[in-house]
Amino acid sequence: MDDGVIVRRASVEDYNAVMDINKHVYFGLDYIPSQYLDMAQDPDFALYVCEHEGKVIAFEAVCEVNGGHTLMMRSARVHQDYQGRGLLLKLRKQIEKDFSRNPLVHSIASSLAATVKYRENASFLAKNTLMFERVLFYHTCNIHEAIEKTTVKSNAQQISSQEFCNLFENEKLMKYLFPWQRVAINSWHLRLIAENRRHIDRQKPVIFISQGLEQCGGFLTLGLVIRVPVGLALHLEIYGSSDDTELEKHLYSQMLAVRGLTSEKVHLMSYCETTLEPSVISKLYARLEFDVMDNPFRTLQFFEEDFHPDVAESTKS
Ligand SMILES: CC(C)(COP(=O)(O)OP(=O)(O)OC[C@H]1O[C@@H](n2cnc3c(N)ncnc32)[C@H](O)[C@@H]1OP(=O)(O)O)[C@@H](O)C(=O)NCCC(=O)NCCS
Repeated sequence: MDDGVIVRRASVEDYNAVMDINKHVYFGLDYIPSQYLDMAQDPDFALYVCEHEGKVIAFEAVCEVNGGHTLMMRSARVHQDYQGRGLLLKLRKQIEKDFSRNPLVHSIASSLAATVKYRENASFLAKNTLMFERVLFYHTCNIHEAIEKTTVKSNAQQISSQEFCNLFENEKLMKYLFPWQRVAINSWHLRLIAENRRHIDRQKPVIFISQGLEQCGGFLTLGLVIRVPVGLALHLEIYGSSDDTELEKHLYSQMLAVRGLTSEKVHLMSYCETTLEPSVISKLYARLEFDVMDNPFRTLQFFEEDFHPDVAESTKS
């Protein structure tokens, strides 16, 4: 589709137009409404939209991560009436053109939930390497009731993002926690390098480690509280392994932290490696009697593709 569609950089002023592209993404759990303004004001980001007859119909953001070596693609949204007509590819071409003069960039990273139809697309898979996959659990719970069902506080210890990044030096521990050599946070996947600390901080995570973790046993969790259109979502990234009793106690601490923030039900999204026994987590949530939601997301896959600087030449015409 090239008839009268223009691609341009987007800004804070485009907030409403971008929100209007698609209000149904992720079943009311879309993070863009609460993150767009931050992205638009952040010098690490570049935001792009497609416009047709004055109407904004597609959006994508890009952030330079991994010390500037990777373009992390964020929040692709194309209006329902215009999907499948090459608009995302049009945005991508412009982005690649704009970054082609940056010699540092050598890869493009993206992530796709099972709800995204292109995940099975042959041409997408031919370009993109699957780096790793995470299982996603989706529950809702009333925090106050859930706290009553759990009684024991965890011994897990909260650490700062600086302390978390210091752990990157411990190779053995990194292999144990992150066999794919990447940490995933709110669907970003980042290399385990100190330069990524600001990208981790940007999500304001609450990070916990269980006792004995430095001896490569137990777990590390990254918790994010995100305002979503249907209320509040608690994202819990679980790394390592644990018996469910330890995790249960830990979940209690997380819920205590969220209790003061809302009286609404909380949407709990927990992610874990496919290598961690997912039944441990299912058993835990069943015991706490959380409402199991239909989980269309199922898994989240993380991809990387090579960046082709020659794109600038091919799009000159
Ligand atoms: C996913 C979505 C952005 C794709 O936009 P689109 O304009 O329909 O896609 P296009 O027609 O430009 O292109 C499809 C091509 O892009 C590729 N593609 C689709 N999504 C991609 C992604 N996230 N990353 C990289 N490539 C992608 C496809 O493989 C396909 O390639 P092909 O034409 O060579 O087969 C759009 O369907 C959408 O807004 N969906 C709802 C929101 C959503 O799920 N967003 C993704 C969040 S991770």
